Amino acid sequence: MPVTLRAHQPGDFAALLRLDQSCFPPGIAYSKTMLRYFLKLPSADGMVAEDAGKIVGFILTEENPPLAHVITLDVAESHRRQGVGSTLLAESEKNLALRGVRTILLETATENEAGVAFWQRHGYRIEATLKRYYLRRIDAYEMRKILPGTRKTARHPGENV
Ligand SMILES: CC(C)(COP(=O)(O)OP(=O)(O)OC[C@H]1O[C@@H](n2cnc3c(N)ncnc32)[C@H](O)[C@@H]1OP(=O)(O)O)[C@@H](O)C(=O)NCCC(=O)NCCS
Repeated sequence: MPVTLRAHQPGDFAALLRLDQSCFPPGIAYSKTMLRYFLKLPSADGMVAEDAGKIVGFILTEENPPLAHVITLDVAESHRRQGVGSTLLAESEKNLALRGVRTILLETATENEAGVAFWQRHGYRIEATLKRYYLRRIDAYEMRKILPGTRKTARHPGENV
């Protein structure tokens, strides 16, 4: 699916809130206040994907190089399994790497099969299970990716890196 990517703008707020609330169950989706808080963080970076001028995808990250965190990744149901999430993630990872990020972390509900499959497909590994992370009852996986080309290489055969 050919979508156009661009940085999010303040005027996108209502559309982003709607999209996030359509992507996650009540209580896990962001409230107005939380979404506004994350979008305003100086360390946050948001990008949207548009199809014919309509926002169909959104990624929000927060960085403190060499670490970054995916706050959310949302793709409209009508546009799933068409590569929109992958396109947003690839562009975001590229930009983060250029700004010195080496490791990206995120959390996703263990029951979010599509989400877990998506992250694994993109090289994110399960690091830990966070018990009752969402709403004090839903477990989450903490997942992590070391960006390619940023691994320390062994100086001597057999050296641990
Ligand atoms: C998870 C999500 C972002 C994926 O976005 P998407 O645009 O549909 O993903 P892509 O089309 O780029 O998929 C890339 C690959 O991820 C995996 N994947 C994506 N959705 C999947 C699903 N429902 N089941 C199994 N694997 C899936 C597949 O390997 C897929 O490749 P394929 O289609 O060639 O098999 C989307 O389903 C979504 O917004 N879900 C609700 C919000 C959410 O869970 N966000 C992630 C947690 S923060």
